[in-house]
Amino acid sequence: MTPRAIIFDAYGTLLDVYSVVPDQALAALWRQKQLEYTWLRALMERYEDFAKVTEDALGAAAAQLGIELTDWRIAEVLDAYGRPSAFEDARRALEVLKGRRLAILSNGTMEMLEAALRHNRLETYFEAVVSVDRVKTYKPSPKVYALGPEGLRLPANEILFVSSNSWDAAGAKTFGYQVCWCNRAGAPMERLGFEPDMTVTRLDEIAGLLGER
Ligand code: 2OP
Repeated sequence: MTPRAIIFDAYGTLLDVYSVVPDQALAALWRQKQLEYTWLRALMERYEDFAKVTEDALGAAAAQLGIELTDWRIAEVLDAYGRPSAFEDARRALEVLKGRRLAILSNGTMEMLEAALRHNRLETYFEAVVSVDRVKTYKPSPKVYALGPEGLRLPANEILFVSSNSWDAAGAKTFGYQVCWCNRAGAPMERLGFEPDMTVTRLDEIAGLLGER
């Protein structure tokens, strides 16, 4: 069935957060810790917003790698995280998909998401930008995925959920969305017992695939 709306994940899918710090080991561990902390906090039912989790994860990743970050450097890195660049293929995809109903569902706070969209001049493409902050837990909780159909007033199976994070794609598929996994890195599939409905290597491939459906 042709989807009647498209929901995008933000960080890692539309927004390139891997190039915020030049040190690749720190960037990778920071991202990993950030996600781990969201999962741990969700399981512990001890929600803190994504800005706090992101800051805590940066400190933890640096400590684990034995990197000393001054307060000034931490502030500078977090500031850069607040202004990530959009992937070029994301810009092209949004331009082509512009006539459709588009939304974002993200772990980020509204403040973070609005600032990142403003920075990239992408705010006009989306009819809704939804943060997990509304339900005070994180992806892949079904409580989060439920915000999509609620906000768009469409059943999940009539919405295409697009994520580069394969665990997020798995969560969305489990919830009942149609799912597109954007596998830019050529990564192997997670073994969580799900198959995305489509896989692309760049977001600007989506419009062509939808045209054929
Ligand atoms: C997001 O929700 C999973 O970080 C990703 O934007």
